Amino acid sequence: MSHRTNRLALLAGAAVIAGGSAAGWTTEAQADELVLYCSPQEEWCQQVVTEFERETGIRVAMTRKSSGETYAQIKAEADNPRGDVWWGGTGDPHLVAAEEDLTEPYESPMLPELHDWAIAQYEASDGKTVGIYAGALGFGYNTELLAEKGLEAPACWADLIKPEFKGEVQMANPNSSGTAYTALATFVQLMGEDEGFEYLKGLHANINQYTRSGSAPITAAARGETMIGIVFQHDAVTQKVAGFPIEVVSPCEGTGYEIGSMSLIKGSRNPENARTFYDFVLRADIQSMAREVAAYQVPSNTNAEAPPESPDFDSITLIDYDFKTFGSSDVRARLLERWDNEVGSLPN
Ligand code: F6P
Repeated sequence: MSHRTNRLALLAGAAVIAGGSAAGWTTEAQADELVLYCSPQEEWCQQVVTEFERETGIRVAMTRKSSGETYAQIKAEADNPRGDVWWGGTGDPHLVAAEEDLTEPYESPMLPELHDWAIAQYEASDGKTVGIYAGALGFGYNTELLAEKGLEAPACWADLIKPEFKGEVQMANPNSSGTAYTALATFVQLMGEDEGFEYLKGLHANINQYTRSGSAPITAAARGETMIGIVFQHDAVTQKVAGFPIEVVSPCEGTGYEIGSMSLIKGSRNPENARTFYDFVLRADIQSMAREVAAYQVPSNTNAEAPPESPDFDSITLIDYDFKTFGSSDVRARLLERWDNEVGSLPN
């Protein structure tokens, strides 16, 4: 950890104490608690909670839910917010939450240490969300199942709608999962909206299950329960590094990506603790620990060590993902409704 981050952490700690007495907290419990809504890997959520509790003494009540589910929960609780911080999950629903005024602006002293793409998220939301990691979409396949069936390895999005992969592909439901919404938005951007939906219908014919969580399809592929999972590439890397027969694919046509984000929930009960957490998880030393729990996203702090296993963004053909459009409330709601009506409800 650099002197700079150490100092910032100390300053952040001092601000909590000063803020606490200024706000005139009445009970010990209020000062010591944080309610965290967490959307990345469960293991990473738990690691961050453990480290934060150890360093600050603040007790964290954490729940892990997918990005779309967490957004829906924060919206449902808007009149009586129960969460303090929403950490992680794809950036699009964080932008929607910002637009709908469900989250609070905050200028963290850690912002100068962040990559431009993380700050872009902050600027696009008037300071209500910030980038904490990046990850490229793709898919992974089980090499043993592929060999058993004697099929040629899929390399492109176009391959996934071929008849030989009928019943072999799994992805999440874009309503609950930020990963699957990123996939939907990626197909629309790569192909145009109508063509993108035609592709999704073709894909539907090959889908064996829409899961709630975005990474579930690659866990299933690792166990041999499906051949192919459409996921963020880092989630496929996690399974490969763990020794499962998984190959990671960066699709030949190009692909979309996420800026995993973090937001402070408006009207939260523990706002000072929420800001302490926000500064804490933007620190380089904390972000560098992700590798210990096999989380291979690219960290947003420029001083954090990107895991060597992380997919190499320089070798991935990325589309110029339009976060403004696909992270807007109207567009997201409309695309999800169209998906429900034209794709999700089809027999297959
Ligand atoms: O498993 C980690 C991860 O892929 C994150 O990179 C991403 O932000 C999150 O999961 C998305 O999860 P879901 O698709 O379940 O919303």
